[in-house]
Amino acid sequence: MSTTPASMAAIIGKATPRIDGPLKTTGAAEYSADFHFDRMVHAVPVSATIGNGRITKLDTSAAESMPGVLLVLHHGNIGPLYRTVPGDDNATNSEVRSAFEDETIRYFGQYVAVVVAETLEQATAAASAVKAEYAAETPNVSTKLGDYDGKRKSTSKRGDPDGAFASAPVKLDAVYNTPVETHNPIELHASVAVWDGDNVTMYETSQGVVNHRVVMAQTLGLPVENVRVITRYLGSGFGGKLFPWPHAAMTAVAARKLGRPVKLSVTRRMMFSCVGYRPHTEQHVKIGATKEGKLLALRHDYFNNTSMLDDFDEGCGEATPILYSVANLEVTSAQPRRNMGAPMWMRGPGAVPGLYALESAMNELADQLNMDPLQLRILNDTEKDESNKDIPFSSRHLRECYEVGAKKFGWERRTTGIGSMRRDGKILGWGMGGASWVAIQLPCTAVVEFCANGRLCVRCGTQDIGTGTYTVFAQVLHEKTGVPLEKIDVILGDSGLPGGPMSGGSMVTGSVLDAIANGANGAIKRLQQIAASTDGSPLKGASLETIALTGGRLHTKSQAYTDGAHFADILSAAKLARVSAEGKTTPSWENPKSKGYSLHSFGAQFVEVEYDPEIARVRVSRVVSVIDGGRIINPKAATNQIAGAVVMGVGMGLLEETVYDHRTGQPINGSLADYLVATCADAPDIDVTFLDHPDPIMGEYGARGIAEIGLAGVAPAITAAVYHATGVRVRDLPVRIEDLL
Ligand code: MOS
Repeated sequence: MSTTPASMAAIIGKATPRIDGPLKTTGAAEYSADFHFDRMVHAVPVSATIGNGRITKLDTSAAESMPGVLLVLHHGNIGPLYRTVPGDDNATNSEVRSAFEDETIRYFGQYVAVVVAETLEQATAAASAVKAEYAAETPNVSTKLGDYDGKRKSTSKRGDPDGAFASAPVKLDAVYNTPVETHNPIELHASVAVWDGDNVTMYETSQGVVNHRVVMAQTLGLPVENVRVITRYLGSGFGGKLFPWPHAAMTAVAARKLGRPVKLSVTRRMMFSCVGYRPHTEQHVKIGATKEGKLLALRHDYFNNTSMLDDFDEGCGEATPILYSVANLEVTSAQPRRNMGAPMWMRGPGAVPGLYALESAMNELADQLNMDPLQLRILNDTEKDESNKDIPFSSRHLRECYEVGAKKFGWERRTTGIGSMRRDGKILGWGMGGASWVAIQLPCTAVVEFCANGRLCVRCGTQDIGTGTYTVFAQVLHEKTGVPLEKIDVILGDSGLPGGPMSGGSMVTGSVLDAIANGANGAIKRLQQIAASTDGSPLKGASLETIALTGGRLHTKSQAYTDGAHFADILSAAKLARVSAEGKTTPSWENPKSKGYSLHSFGAQFVEVEYDPEIARVRVSRVVSVIDGGRIINPKAATNQIAGAVVMGVGMGLLEETVYDHRTGQPINGSLADYLVATCADAPDIDVTFLDHPDPIMGEYGARGIAEIGLAGVAPAITAAVYHATGVRVRDLPVRIEDLL
């Protein structure tokens, strides 16, 4: 890495390999389940084998007498665990009920006990020897959400959608279903708890260490200072690891009772019951339009299932009110309860299933009007956020996404007839969809520190979910100081660090960069003061405005930076180990700059499928994805995010679905062999383009953050392409072979 001024200017927007890459590829990066401690023992949960009812008898005696078994925890002996206090310290939990709180079973796989033994094998064997008896009732895991006649709330309304729909010359009225999808990060959820007196350190698979700490403190009834949560590396989470799940408290209690470190690793099968999923959605969309395709009315009424105790609104109407210009609109939502675990945000929650319905309806409307779906969207594009007093968007280039994408894809070569496009004996289908995702700057504090050993460091209580967060932060420090990347330490993933945001909502980059930049500016200023006031410093006596920092060296602006003094030498001359400063990000809701603006990213997806009619096989062969995500800090990591999301979109369109047995409530395809996620072999040729227009409202760098938006709009483009190839309109995801026979 060169330290010339040229490299400083060039690093923002430069494809930069992950600074943590070598640690990951050599196995040196410690994921939560990699932590080992002296005298550590292993916990294995016991899962309910009914989906509804209660425990009538729990016999742990056989398990307790097995070799190596130290403890079996359950409702009868876990002792007090508390629910999270709503609104207190902003603690957000996943399940409202604490572990083993009562003997009622509300979903299949709910934990009924946890066995702790000297070895994992002993704990696993003993867990299978715990005998539970139940009074079982039939669970309700019905996928007919539309039967629900309970509370329905209006989440966005303008004009008179029903009147305008009734009188519209062209009408589209359709129902779309998305199935339960389970988060399948490769890294399993895990907890390792280590007590020291009344203090506990938890090595967690957490997308939010700061929140995790507060929730654990409340659950365990401890002062917040007594809990420390560490997540150095994450093998992703897709939202499943945003908030704590019951296994974390079970691990902490077991470790405390035994006075030994305890590790619990959730199995893949348990991950289909106990750590969240994207709920099933049933979405009713009505669009009224003129014969020319101008939208007159839009209704989006959705249901998503929630669990028996948790109120989880998927938020399918997140993008609906802002994507198009339409005077009459309403979005409503309702949440029928099912005997299933708590749903949880999953990559692009709300907007992704919501846009599947909305964009499918737009594609169907285009077909009905005999209109190009691209033209229909451009005709109905909006420059204002019509859901919010017609305020402007901070930066909206959706139309450019459509136009750039169409050009790259070759959309003008599309012929409209069903099955009219062919290549190498296969039928081609082309489809497209729009995408959007909300942006916001969350509060954040970061501390930037120059050290006398020549290293530069930033500390922040956020974490890297695996997307390149470490690298992007280092890029900003390099840009500010010219210190080479290999001399920069990015310290994240510890709840004891200055408070940072969750790795969620694609919001870390947009939220943290300002805090780092402000911290760096502050630390540089202090360094300049020290340089100007320290005996032995070549800059002694220089006025502060004349001192620059380039390539890690302090120099006067009239001097070549190579003639300046390295910051480490200045610190040594001043006999200082380090100089640091704290920087903050002002959250959007407190920032006068963002008042009066609607903040969103946008995108367009163009999809080609190849259809082999002989065997009814659909394969997504090509995707062009154009993203307007503000300024892109690291195009390599960003492209990786969008390409990964597109592959997940292939899964959403063609493969992913968690199926529940209606007799028992059991997720019956709860393994990576039976639950199909898109693999490399399913991945199409993917062309990712970023428009790279800095967002003038999103802080110093204008980055809105990207990731989840790459999934939005892919599935409706796939179903449109499938229709184009086959003439079969699939409104229930995923598209199955049997739909096409
Ligand atoms: Mo994402 S669903 O906010 O981890």
